[in-house]
Amino acid sequence: MLTDKKIILGISGSIAVYKVADWIRALRRAGAEVQVVMTEAAARFVAPLTFAALSGNKVYEGMFDPNDAEQIPHINLAAGADLILIAPATAQTIARLAHGMADDLLSALVLANKSPVILCPAMNSNMYLNSATQNNLAQVREYGYRVVDPDSGSLACNTEGPGRLVDWSSAKEVIYSALSQQDLAGRKVLITAGPTREPLDPVRYLGNRSTGRMGFALATTAKRRGADVTLIAGPVTLPDPPGINVIRINTADEMAGEVLDRSQDMTVVVKAAAVSDFRPATYSANKLKKATAKSTLDLTSNQDILKTLGKKKLEGANPILVGFAAESHDFIKEGWRKLRDKNIDLLALNDITADDAGFAVETNRITLLDQDGTEEKFPLLSKEETADLIWNRVVDLLNK
Ligand SMILES: Cc1cc2nc3c(=O)[nH]c(=O)nc-3n(C[C@H](O)[C@H](O)[C@H](O)COP(=O)(O)O)c2cc1C
Repeated sequence: MLTDKKIILGISGSIAVYKVADWIRALRRAGAEVQVVMTEAAARFVAPLTFAALSGNKVYEGMFDPNDAEQIPHINLAAGADLILIAPATAQTIARLAHGMADDLLSALVLANKSPVILCPAMNSNMYLNSATQNNLAQVREYGYRVVDPDSGSLACNTEGPGRLVDWSSAKEVIYSALSQQDLAGRKVLITAGPTREPLDPVRYLGNRSTGRMGFALATTAKRRGADVTLIAGPVTLPDPPGINVIRINTADEMAGEVLDRSQDMTVVVKAAAVSDFRPATYSANKLKKATAKSTLDLTSNQDILKTLGKKKLEGANPILVGFAAESHDFIKEGWRKLRDKNIDLLALNDITADDAGFAVETNRITLLDQDGTEEKFPLLSKEETADLIWNRVVDLLNK
Protein backbone atom coordinates (compact mmCIF):
# COMPACT_ATOMS: atom_id res chain seq x y z
CA MET A 1 0.00 0.00 0.00
CA LEU A 2 3.01 2.28 0.34
CA THR A 3 4.56 1.16 -2.93
CA ASP A 4 7.05 3.71 -4.27
CA LYS A 5 6.48 6.06 -1.33
CA LYS A 6 9.66 7.58 0.03
CA ILE A 7 9.48 8.01 3.79
CA ILE A 8 12.12 9.84 5.78
CA LEU A 9 12.30 8.42 9.28
CA GLY A 10 13.79 11.04 11.59
CA ILE A 11 15.04 9.46 14.81
CA SER A 12 15.86 11.63 17.82
CA GLY A 13 17.58 10.78 21.09
CA SER A 14 15.02 8.96 23.25
CA ILE A 15 15.36 5.68 25.09
CA ALA A 16 12.61 4.45 22.72
CA VAL A 17 14.93 4.54 19.67
CA TYR A 18 15.23 0.74 19.61
CA LYS A 19 11.46 0.37 19.12
CA VAL A 20 11.42 1.95 15.65
CA ALA A 21 13.77 -0.68 14.22
CA ASP A 22 10.67 -2.84 13.70
CA TRP A 23 8.76 0.06 12.16
CA ILE A 24 11.31 0.20 9.32
CA ARG A 25 10.65 -3.43 8.51
CA ALA A 26 6.87 -2.86 8.52
CA LEU A 27 7.21 0.17 6.22
CA ARG A 28 9.41 -1.74 3.80
CA ARG A 29 7.06 -4.74 3.82
CA ALA A 30 4.28 -2.33 2.76
CA GLY A 31 6.45 -1.24 -0.20
CA ALA A 32 7.94 2.04 1.10
CA GLU A 33 11.52 3.17 0.67
CA VAL A 34 12.83 4.29 4.05
CA GLN A 35 15.59 6.88 4.47
CA VAL A 36 16.75 7.23 8.06
CA VAL A 37 18.07 10.51 9.47
CA MET A 38 19.37 10.36 13.05
CA THR A 39 20.17 13.17 15.42
CA GLU A 40 23.55 13.09 17.13
CA ALA A 41 21.84 12.07 20.39
CA ALA A 42 19.86 9.26 18.71
CA ALA A 43 23.08 7.67 17.44
CA ARG A 44 24.22 7.28 21.06
CA PHE A 45 21.28 4.97 21.81
CA VAL A 46 21.40 2.55 18.85
CA ALA A 47 24.20 2.45 16.30
CA PRO A 48 23.26 3.80 12.83
CA LEU A 49 24.49 0.48 11.42
CA THR A 50 21.28 -1.20 12.65
CA PHE A 51 19.09 1.27 10.77
CA ALA A 52 21.28 1.18 7.64
CA ALA A 53 20.96 -2.61 7.51
CA LEU A 54 17.20 -2.56 8.15
CA SER A 55 16.42 0.26 5.71
CA GLY A 56 18.86 -0.82 3.02
CA ASN A 57 20.03 2.81 2.79
CA LYS A 58 22.86 4.92 4.18
CA VAL A 59 21.86 6.63 7.42
CA TYR A 60 22.29 10.42 7.47
CA GLU A 61 23.56 11.80 10.77
CA GLY A 62 24.80 15.33 10.22
CA MET A 63 24.52 18.35 8.02
CA PHE A 64 28.22 18.61 7.28
CA ASP A 65 29.13 15.11 6.09
CA PRO A 66 32.35 15.56 4.02
CA ASN A 67 31.46 12.42 1.99
CA ASP A 68 28.23 13.98 0.82
CA ALA A 69 29.10 17.66 0.66
CA GLU A 70 27.98 18.12 -2.96
CA GLN A 71 24.53 16.63 -2.19
CA ILE A 72 23.28 19.38 0.17
CA PRO A 73 21.50 16.65 2.12
CA HIS A 74 18.84 18.73 3.89
CA ILE A 75 17.55 20.07 0.55
CA ASN A 76 17.88 16.89 -1.50
CA LEU A 77 16.36 14.62 1.12
CA ALA A 78 13.40 16.98 1.58
CA ALA A 79 12.83 17.28 -2.18
CA GLY A 80 12.41 13.53 -2.67
CA ALA A 81 10.22 12.81 0.37
CA ASP A 82 6.56 11.79 0.32
CA LEU A 83 6.40 11.99 4.12
CA ILE A 84 8.60 12.73 7.11
CA LEU A 85 7.98 10.62 10.20
CA ILE A 86 9.84 11.63 13.35
CA ALA A 87 9.80 8.79 15.85
CA PRO A 88 10.68 8.91 18.62
CA ALA A 89 10.38 12.71 18.76
CA THR A 90 12.21 14.10 21.81
CA ALA A 91 11.22 17.21 23.76
CA GLN A 92 14.36 18.84 22.32
CA THR A 93 13.54 18.02 18.68
CA ILE A 94 9.92 19.15 19.14
CA ALA A 95 11.20 22.43 20.63
CA ARG A 96 13.54 22.91 17.66
CA LEU A 97 10.68 22.39 15.21
CA ALA A 98 8.30 24.63 17.17
CA HIS A 99 10.82 27.46 16.89
CA GLY A 100 11.69 26.87 13.24
CA MET A 101 15.31 26.12 14.07
CA ALA A 102 17.63 24.56 11.53
CA ASP A 103 20.70 23.75 13.59
CA ASP A 104 20.80 20.04 12.77
CA LEU A 105 20.05 17.99 9.64
CA LEU A 106 16.64 16.73 10.81
CA SER A 107 15.21 20.14 11.74
CA ALA A 108 16.68 21.79 8.62
CA LEU A 109 15.17 19.21 6.31
CA VAL A 110 11.75 19.56 7.98
CA LEU A 111 11.91 23.29 7.21
CA ALA A 112 12.92 22.62 3.61
CA ASN A 113 10.20 20.02 3.12
CA LYS A 114 6.66 20.35 1.71
CA SER A 115 5.31 16.86 2.36
CA PRO A 116 3.29 15.78 5.46
CA VAL A 117 5.19 15.65 8.77
CA ILE A 118 4.21 13.26 11.56
CA LEU A 119 5.67 13.41 15.07
CA CYS A 120 5.49 10.56 17.59
CA PRO A 121 6.64 12.07 20.90
CA ALA A 122 8.30 9.87 23.53
CA MET A 123 9.58 11.13 26.85
CA ASN A 124 9.18 11.13 30.63
CA SER A 125 5.65 12.18 31.74
CA ASN A 126 6.81 15.36 33.48
CA MET A 127 8.74 16.41 30.39
CA TYR A 128 5.69 15.69 28.25
CA LEU A 129 3.21 17.47 30.52
CA ASN A 130 5.48 20.48 31.06
CA SER A 131 3.83 23.62 29.67
CA ALA A 132 6.88 24.30 27.52
CA THR A 133 6.51 20.96 25.71
CA GLN A 134 2.71 21.27 25.50
CA ASN A 135 3.06 24.77 24.00
CA ASN A 136 5.63 23.48 21.53
CA LEU A 137 3.30 20.65 20.51
CA ALA A 138 0.43 23.12 20.04
CA GLN A 139 2.75 25.24 17.90
CA VAL A 140 3.85 22.38 15.62
CA ARG A 141 0.20 21.34 15.22
CA GLU A 142 -0.51 24.88 14.10
CA TYR A 143 2.18 24.51 11.44
CA GLY A 144 0.18 21.53 10.14
CA TYR A 145 2.41 18.78 11.51
CA ARG A 146 0.44 15.78 12.78
CA VAL A 147 1.19 14.69 16.34
CA VAL A 148 0.42 11.12 17.41
CA ASP A 149 -0.27 11.43 21.14
CA PRO A 150 1.96 9.15 23.19
CA ASP A 151 0.49 6.22 25.13
CA SER A 152 0.15 6.18 28.89
CA GLY A 153 1.74 3.45 30.95
CA SER A 154 4.93 2.44 32.68
CA LEU A 155 7.97 4.27 31.33
CA ALA A 156 11.64 3.33 31.13
CA CYS A 157 12.39 5.87 33.89
CA ASN A 158 10.29 3.76 36.33
CA THR A 159 7.35 6.16 36.37
CA GLU A 160 3.76 5.78 35.16
CA GLY A 161 1.97 8.25 32.92
CA PRO A 162 1.77 9.66 29.40
CA GLY A 163 4.92 9.72 27.30
CA ARG A 164 5.38 6.20 25.99
CA LEU A 165 6.03 5.91 22.25
CA VAL A 166 2.82 4.75 20.53
CA ASP A 167 2.57 1.27 19.11
CA TRP A 168 3.23 0.76 15.43
CA SER A 169 -0.50 0.08 14.82
CA SER A 170 -1.42 3.66 15.86
CA ALA A 171 1.48 5.30 14.01
CA LYS A 172 0.67 3.25 10.91
CA GLU A 173 -2.88 4.60 10.69
CA VAL A 174 -1.66 8.21 10.79
CA ILE A 175 0.95 7.48 8.09
CA TYR A 176 -1.58 5.73 5.85
CA SER A 177 -4.11 8.56 6.34
CA ALA A 178 -1.51 11.18 5.46
CA LEU A 179 -0.73 9.33 2.22
CA SER A 180 -4.35 8.46 1.30
CA GLN A 181 -6.65 10.44 -0.92
CA GLN A 182 -9.25 12.06 1.35
CA ASP A 183 -12.11 11.14 -0.98
CA LEU A 184 -14.45 10.15 1.88
CA ALA A 185 -13.80 13.32 3.89
CA GLY A 186 -16.95 14.60 5.57
CA ARG A 187 -18.86 11.37 4.77
CA LYS A 188 -20.59 9.51 7.59
CA VAL A 189 -20.11 5.79 7.16
CA LEU A 190 -21.69 2.95 9.15
CA ILE A 191 -20.11 -0.50 8.92
CA THR A 192 -21.18 -3.76 10.54
CA ALA A 193 -18.74 -6.58 11.22
CA GLY A 194 -18.41 -10.00 12.77
CA PRO A 195 -20.92 -12.69 13.70
CA THR A 196 -23.93 -12.49 15.98
CA ARG A 197 -24.64 -14.82 18.88
CA GLU A 198 -28.21 -16.02 19.40
CA PRO A 199 -28.47 -17.41 22.93
CA LEU A 200 -30.21 -20.68 23.68
CA ASP A 201 -29.45 -20.77 27.39
CA PRO A 202 -26.86 -19.00 29.63
CA VAL A 203 -23.98 -21.02 28.13
CA ARG A 204 -24.98 -22.01 24.59
CA TYR A 205 -25.61 -19.96 21.47
CA LEU A 206 -26.10 -20.17 17.72
CA GLY A 207 -23.19 -18.42 15.98
CA ASN A 208 -21.05 -18.52 12.84
CA ARG A 209 -17.40 -18.45 11.73
CA SER A 210 -17.11 -14.73 10.91
CA THR A 211 -14.06 -13.10 12.55
CA GLY A 212 -14.95 -9.49 11.65
CA ARG A 213 -11.74 -8.93 9.67
CA MET A 214 -13.45 -7.75 6.46
CA GLY A 215 -15.66 -5.25 8.33
CA PHE A 216 -12.73 -3.97 10.42
CA ALA A 217 -10.65 -3.57 7.23
CA LEU A 218 -13.49 -1.55 5.69
CA ALA A 219 -13.66 0.64 8.80
CA THR A 220 -9.89 1.22 8.92
CA THR A 221 -9.57 2.05 5.22
CA ALA A 222 -12.62 4.40 5.30
CA LYS A 223 -11.09 6.23 8.25
CA ARG A 224 -7.80 6.62 6.34
CA ARG A 225 -9.74 8.15 3.45
CA GLY A 226 -11.23 10.77 5.78
CA ALA A 227 -14.64 9.27 6.66
CA ASP A 228 -16.37 9.65 10.01
CA VAL A 229 -16.75 5.94 10.80
CA THR A 230 -19.11 4.08 13.13
CA LEU A 231 -18.44 0.35 13.41
CA ILE A 232 -21.05 -1.98 14.88
CA ALA A 233 -19.28 -5.20 15.74
CA GLY A 234 -20.51 -8.59 16.91
CA PRO A 235 -18.40 -10.66 19.33
CA VAL A 236 -14.89 -10.69 17.80
CA THR A 237 -11.41 -10.60 19.32
CA LEU A 238 -10.16 -7.67 17.22
CA PRO A 239 -9.26 -4.49 19.15
CA ASP A 240 -11.05 -1.18 18.46
CA PRO A 241 -9.36 0.47 15.45
CA PRO A 242 -7.98 3.93 16.39
CA GLY A 243 -10.24 6.94 15.75
CA ILE A 244 -13.38 4.90 15.07
CA ASN A 245 -16.61 4.89 17.08
CA VAL A 246 -17.03 1.17 17.89
CA ILE A 247 -20.29 -0.24 19.25
CA ARG A 248 -20.15 -3.84 20.43
CA ILE A 249 -23.30 -5.98 20.25
CA ASN A 250 -24.13 -9.68 20.61
CA THR A 251 -27.43 -10.61 18.98
CA ALA A 252 -28.99 -9.94 15.57
CA ASP A 253 -31.74 -8.05 17.37
CA GLU A 254 -29.22 -5.71 19.05
CA MET A 255 -27.46 -5.28 15.68
CA ALA A 256 -30.77 -4.33 13.99
CA GLY A 257 -31.56 -1.80 16.75
CA GLU A 258 -28.16 -0.06 16.49
CA VAL A 259 -28.11 -0.01 12.66
CA LEU A 260 -31.69 1.17 12.15
CA ASP A 261 -31.32 3.90 14.81
CA ARG A 262 -28.33 5.38 12.99
CA SER A 263 -28.78 4.63 9.29
CA GLN A 264 -30.76 7.80 8.49
CA ASP A 265 -27.79 10.05 9.38
CA MET A 266 -25.33 8.09 7.22
CA THR A 267 -23.99 8.64 3.71
CA VAL A 268 -23.05 4.98 3.34
CA VAL A 269 -24.04 1.80 5.19
CA VAL A 270 -21.90 -1.30 4.63
CA LYS A 271 -23.28 -4.54 6.02
CA ALA A 272 -20.27 -6.82 6.28
CA ALA A 273 -21.48 -8.64 9.41
CA ALA A 274 -22.63 -12.25 9.22
CA VAL A 275 -25.95 -11.73 10.95
CA SER A 276 -27.71 -14.92 11.95
CA ASP A 277 -30.88 -15.52 9.90
CA PHE A 278 -32.40 -17.45 12.81
CA ARG A 279 -32.47 -17.52 16.60
CA PRO A 280 -33.70 -20.18 19.01
CA ALA A 281 -37.48 -19.77 19.36
CA THR A 282 -37.22 -19.85 23.14
CA TYR A 283 -34.49 -18.86 25.58
CA SER A 284 -34.05 -20.89 28.72
CA ALA A 285 -32.90 -18.82 31.70
CA ASN A 286 -31.53 -22.05 33.22
CA LYS A 287 -28.92 -24.22 31.55
CA LEU A 288 -30.67 -26.96 29.52
CA LYS A 289 -30.03 -30.40 31.03
CA LYS A 290 -28.89 -33.34 28.94
CA ALA A 291 -31.49 -35.66 30.42
CA THR A 292 -34.50 -33.42 29.76
CA ALA A 293 -33.58 -31.24 26.70
CA LYS A 294 -35.33 -31.88 23.37
CA SER A 295 -33.08 -33.22 20.61
CA THR A 296 -34.46 -30.72 18.08
CA LEU A 297 -34.12 -26.95 18.11
CA ASP A 298 -37.07 -24.72 17.23
CA LEU A 299 -35.94 -21.60 15.40
CA THR A 300 -37.52 -18.30 14.57
CA SER A 301 -36.40 -15.83 11.86
CA ASN A 302 -34.43 -12.69 12.64
CA GLN A 303 -35.13 -9.43 10.88
CA ASP A 304 -33.29 -9.06 7.53
CA ILE A 305 -31.57 -5.72 8.29
CA LEU A 306 -30.35 -5.12 4.74
CA LYS A 307 -33.80 -5.77 3.33
CA THR A 308 -35.32 -3.32 5.83
CA LEU A 309 -32.72 -0.69 4.80
CA GLY A 310 -33.42 -1.39 1.11
CA LYS A 311 -37.15 -0.87 1.71
CA LYS A 312 -36.45 2.44 3.48
CA LYS A 313 -34.41 3.46 0.44
CA LEU A 314 -37.41 2.87 -1.81
CA GLU A 315 -39.30 5.23 0.50
CA GLY A 316 -36.64 7.90 -0.04
CA ALA A 317 -33.99 7.12 2.62
CA ASN A 318 -30.50 8.41 1.95
CA PRO A 319 -27.60 6.08 2.46
CA ILE A 320 -25.84 4.15 -0.26
CA LEU A 321 -26.22 0.48 0.68
CA VAL A 322 -23.39 -2.01 0.33
CA GLY A 323 -24.10 -5.64 1.20
CA PHE A 324 -22.03 -8.79 1.49
CA ALA A 325 -23.26 -12.26 0.59
CA ALA A 326 -21.47 -15.49 1.36
CA GLU A 327 -22.65 -18.27 -0.91
CA SER A 328 -21.55 -21.85 -1.47
CA HIS A 329 -23.20 -22.56 -4.86
CA ASP A 330 -24.72 -20.67 -7.80
CA PHE A 331 -23.24 -17.66 -6.14
CA ILE A 332 -23.47 -15.15 -9.03
CA LYS A 333 -27.13 -16.03 -9.67
CA GLU A 334 -27.88 -15.76 -5.94
CA GLY A 335 -26.04 -12.43 -5.83
CA TRP A 336 -28.18 -10.85 -8.57
CA ARG A 337 -31.33 -12.11 -6.84
CA LYS A 338 -30.28 -10.59 -3.51
CA LEU A 339 -29.15 -7.28 -5.04
CA ARG A 340 -32.56 -6.79 -6.70
CA ASP A 341 -34.75 -8.28 -3.92
CA LYS A 342 -33.13 -6.19 -1.23
CA ASN A 343 -32.59 -3.03 -3.30
CA ILE A 344 -28.85 -2.83 -2.55
CA ASP A 345 -26.54 -0.45 -4.47
CA LEU A 346 -23.46 -2.66 -4.38
CA LEU A 347 -23.15 -6.32 -3.42
CA ALA A 348 -19.83 -8.01 -2.61
CA LEU A 349 -20.11 -11.74 -3.22
CA ASN A 350 -17.90 -14.32 -1.54
CA ASP A 351 -17.57 -17.90 -2.70
CA ILE A 352 -17.16 -19.54 0.71
CA THR A 353 -16.05 -22.86 -0.76
CA ALA A 354 -12.58 -21.33 -1.43
CA ASP A 355 -9.97 -21.92 1.32
CA ASP A 356 -8.31 -18.52 0.82
CA ALA A 357 -11.39 -16.26 0.80
CA GLY A 358 -14.31 -15.39 3.04
CA PHE A 359 -14.43 -16.44 6.69
CA ALA A 360 -11.47 -16.55 9.08
CA VAL A 361 -8.67 -15.83 6.57
CA GLU A 362 -6.59 -12.70 5.86
CA THR A 363 -7.45 -12.62 2.14
CA ASN A 364 -10.59 -12.28 0.09
CA ARG A 365 -11.70 -12.76 -3.50
CA ILE A 366 -14.95 -10.99 -4.22
CA THR A 367 -17.21 -10.26 -7.15
CA LEU A 368 -18.95 -6.88 -7.06
CA LEU A 369 -22.42 -6.48 -8.53
CA ASP A 370 -24.22 -3.16 -8.93
CA GLN A 371 -27.61 -1.80 -9.96
CA ASP A 372 -26.31 -0.92 -13.46
CA GLY A 373 -25.74 -4.63 -14.10
CA THR A 374 -21.94 -4.45 -13.78
CA GLU A 375 -20.24 -7.62 -12.58
CA GLU A 376 -16.59 -7.08 -11.56
CA LYS A 377 -14.43 -9.94 -10.36
CA PHE A 378 -11.47 -8.97 -8.14
CA PRO A 379 -8.37 -11.15 -7.76
CA LEU A 380 -7.25 -12.65 -4.45
CA LEU A 381 -6.25 -9.66 -2.30
CA SER A 382 -5.72 -8.78 1.34
CA LYS A 383 -8.92 -7.69 3.08
CA GLU A 384 -7.58 -4.11 3.28
CA GLU A 385 -6.91 -4.05 -0.47
CA THR A 386 -10.37 -5.50 -1.11
CA ALA A 387 -11.88 -2.83 1.17
CA ASP A 388 -10.09 -0.04 -0.73
CA LEU A 389 -11.46 -1.30 -4.05
CA ILE A 390 -14.98 -1.34 -2.58
CA TRP A 391 -14.49 2.27 -1.38
CA ASN A 392 -13.32 3.26 -4.90
CA ARG A 393 -16.67 2.05 -6.22
CA VAL A 394 -18.58 3.78 -3.42
CA VAL A 395 -16.76 7.05 -4.23
CA ASP A 396 -17.81 6.62 -7.90
CA LEU A 397 -21.43 6.22 -6.75
CA LEU A 398 -21.17 9.29 -4.50
CA ASN A 399 -19.79 11.37 -7.37
CA LYS A 400 -22.47 10.21 -9.80
C1 LIG B 1 19.16 7.48 29.01
C2 LIG B 1 18.50 8.69 28.39
C3 LIG B 1 17.22 8.59 27.92
C4 LIG B 1 16.58 9.69 27.36
N1 LIG B 1 15.31 9.56 26.89
C5 LIG B 1 14.66 10.62 26.40
C6 LIG B 1 13.33 10.50 25.94
O1 LIG B 1 12.73 9.41 25.94
N2 LIG B 1 12.72 11.60 25.45
C7 LIG B 1 13.35 12.82 25.41
O2 LIG B 1 12.72 13.79 24.97
N3 LIG B 1 14.61 12.95 25.83
C8 LIG B 1 15.29 11.90 26.32
N4 LIG B 1 16.60 12.03 26.75
C9 LIG B 1 17.24 13.32 26.62
C10 LIG B 1 17.67 13.61 25.18
O3 LIG B 1 18.54 12.59 24.71
C11 LIG B 1 18.33 14.98 25.08
O4 LIG B 1 17.39 15.98 25.39
C12 LIG B 1 18.94 15.25 23.73
O5 LIG B 1 19.48 16.55 23.74
C13 LIG B 1 17.94 15.14 22.63
O6 LIG B 1 18.50 15.58 21.41
P1 LIG B 1 17.83 15.36 20.00
O7 LIG B 1 16.43 15.83 20.08
O8 LIG B 1 18.66 16.17 19.08
O9 LIG B 1 17.93 13.91 19.67
C14 LIG B 1 17.25 10.93 27.29
C15 LIG B 1 18.57 11.02 27.73
C16 LIG B 1 19.17 9.91 28.29
C17 LIG B 1 20.60 10.04 28.80
